[in-house]
Formats: sequence, C-alpha cells, structure tokens
Amino acid sequence: MGVLDLFKLDGKVALVTGGGQGIGRQLALALAEAGANVAVADINERTGSHVAAEVASVGRRSAFMRTDVSRPDEIDAMVAQTVAALGGLDILVNNAWAGGRYLVPPTAEDFPLEDWQFTMNLALQAPFLACKAAARVMIPRGRGKIVNMASMSATIANAGLAYCSAKAGVVMLTKRLAAEWGRYNINVNCISPSYTLSPARRRDSRDSRDLIRSYHPMGWHERPSDLCGTLIYLVSDASNYVTGRDILVDGGHTLNVWLRPLTRTHAPLVSPDEEAEALIHDLDILAVPHDGTGVVSGDNDSRLPGAPALSTPRPATAVSPPPPKGASPG
Ligand SMILES: NC(=O)c1ccc[n+]([C@@H]2O[C@H](COP(=O)([O-])OP(=O)(O)OC[C@H]3O[C@@H](n4cnc5c(N)ncnc54)[C@H](O)[C@@H]3O)[C@@H](O)[C@H]2O)c1
Repeated sequence: MGVLDLFKLDGKVALVTGGGQGIGRQLALALAEAGANVAVADINERTGSHVAAEVASVGRRSAFMRTDVSRPDEIDAMVAQTVAALGGLDILVNNAWAGGRYLVPPTAEDFPLEDWQFTMNLALQAPFLACKAAARVMIPRGRGKIVNMASMSATIANAGLAYCSAKAGVVMLTKRLAAEWGRYNINVNCISPSYTLSPARRRDSRDSRDLIRSYHPMGWHERPSDLCGTLIYLVSDASNYVTGRDILVDGGHTLNVWLRPLTRTHAPLVSPDEEAEALIHDLDILAVPHDGTGVVSGDNDSRLPGAPALSTPRPATAVSPPPPKGASPG
C-alpha cells in the first residue's frame, strides 16, 4: 500500500455532529471527498439536510438526523440511526456547539450557573455520551476513530470561563478514552482550532479580523477548511499509532504571548478574501444578512435558526475591536 493510500476512507461510515455549518460542514465534505459515507447530525434541519445533500452530490451515501446533542436520548438515537441508515460507524467527529452568543462573556465572579451547565452539557457531556454510544458499535468490531473538536481555549484562557473549562475537559476526556480504548483498536484524538471564520464568529468586525491576522504567525484568519487535512489524518490509517493527542491547528497563535502585532516580509498563503468564503456560504444558506465579507451587524444578528436559547440571554456588549485574547469563541 502506498503512503497516500493510508489516507483513503473508501467505504467508511462517518458521523459528524454539528455538521450543518461552519467547521462541521467543511469536515463532513472533506470526509466525503476522502471516500466516506457521512451522517450529518445537527439541531438545525435546514442547514443539516443541505450538507447531507452536498455529501450526496460528491457521490457518497449520506443521511441527516435532526439531533439535539444536549439530550442524552437523542445521542443514542443519532448513533442508532447512523448504523441503520449507512450500515455501521467507523468514524465519529464530535463538533456541535452553539457558538457566537457573547461578544464579551460574563465575568467569572458573576458567571451564571445555568450558562455553566448549558456549556458543560453541550461542549463536554455531549461528546462523552456520543463517544460512549459510538464505542458500543466500534468495540465489537475492534476498530474505530474518534475526533473531538476541542479548542485552543483548552490551553489558553482566552474565552468564557465555562467554554475554556469545558474544552480543557474535552482534551482530558480524549486522553482518558484513548488510554482505555486502545485495546479495542479505537483511536481517540482531538483538534484545537484558533479563531475560525464560521458563523460562530459572524459578529467579528473587519478590524477584529485584522487584529487576529496580525497575531498569528501564519498571517491569516483560520478557515474551517484549514482543519480538514488534520481531520483526515486523524480518522485514517495514516494515524493508526497516534492516540490521545490534542493537535493545535492555530497558525502558531499559542506559541507565545504576543506583545505586539507580528510583522511579515512575505504575503500569507491565504488572502483576506479567501478566508471568508465558507462563512459567506453558510450565512447565505442561513439567510443572515451580512456586509459581503461575512461580517454581521448587531441589527442583523437574529439568532441562527435552530440554535438553542440560553435561559438567560445576555445583551451584546459592543467592543471595537475585541482583543484576540478576549474575543470569545464561546
Ligand atoms: N469558530 C471558532 O473560532 C472555534 C475555535 C475553536 C474551537 N471551535 C470549535 O469548533 C466546533 C465547531 O464550531 P463552529 O465555529 O463551526 O460553530 P458554529 O456555531 O458555526 O456551528 C455549530 C453547529 O452546531 C450545531 N448545534 C448547535 N447546538 C446543537 C445541539 N444542541 N445539537 C446539535 N447540533 C447543534 C449548530 O446548528 C451548527 O450547525 C465547536 O466545537 C467549537 O467549540 C470553534
């Protein structure tokens, strides 16, 4: 077998939670392109079924299951429906998250318990339960690949209290499961992005995008597609001896505490126009008006359809531009 054959996913069945937009959509399409049949689970029926149709259009089998991963019973049903629709489960990608709720997260001393519980439920409990449900399918077969979407916020304290804590929990959940399930030939790893231009970041201003670029050694604002190569590596035979790892795909952002914007002598590999292509696609599907570059103003920032509401919605507090270390993915 040639080395490039190690990356092929022909005939595998993959399940992506939160696959209807943003990072999840790009990962679902990448899995399909690499050969997998893909189940898309999302709370948003419109976007999720759209992505399932996109998967089918590249010649793979696909299925959409409307799932609220904050509900344990729906997680079990999601896995059972994937097996029923596509004949098995080889790859699980835990990605769902209801992002973009805060411009500025609540301070720690005032952090509402219900926001903490909401975040822990969606960002940490849901991946745990989905891993558990998937393992019941993978263990009898003696094979499986699981990738949890963590965040650089597991490593640096840049976002909301609950989000950073939950994502750090995802990294340890990944290590602990990997240590236990290696005996079944199940690899469990996680990926930690930096600020990524998905609909979760739709309210970042152009100034904020400039600032974020200037604090990343690679010099561009991360796109969902920047995660695809790492995902395919982690779910394919190319990484069979890699487990329990957190791969930071962050353009070098967390390598240092940057005291001043970085300067560069060569143009980055990705231009500002190219950064926002996937975000603009998603906002158009969601029918969220934007300025043509994917920036959504407060006036147009109606809640994305299907996203669960917090019991205590917070008024958006404008900051212009939010510093990169304070800009919240959560
Ligand atoms: N965008 C970033 O800057 C960034 C940075 C680091 C990590 N991440 C992580 O990447 C992952 C994807 O983020 P994104 O930026 O694409 O987010 P996003 O908000 O653009 O998309 C999240 C998807 O999850 C779905 N979803 C929300 N609640 C759900 C629920 N209860 N059940 C099922 N589906 C639900 C949404 O409908 C949406 O399709 C998340 O785990 C996030 O924490 C994102």
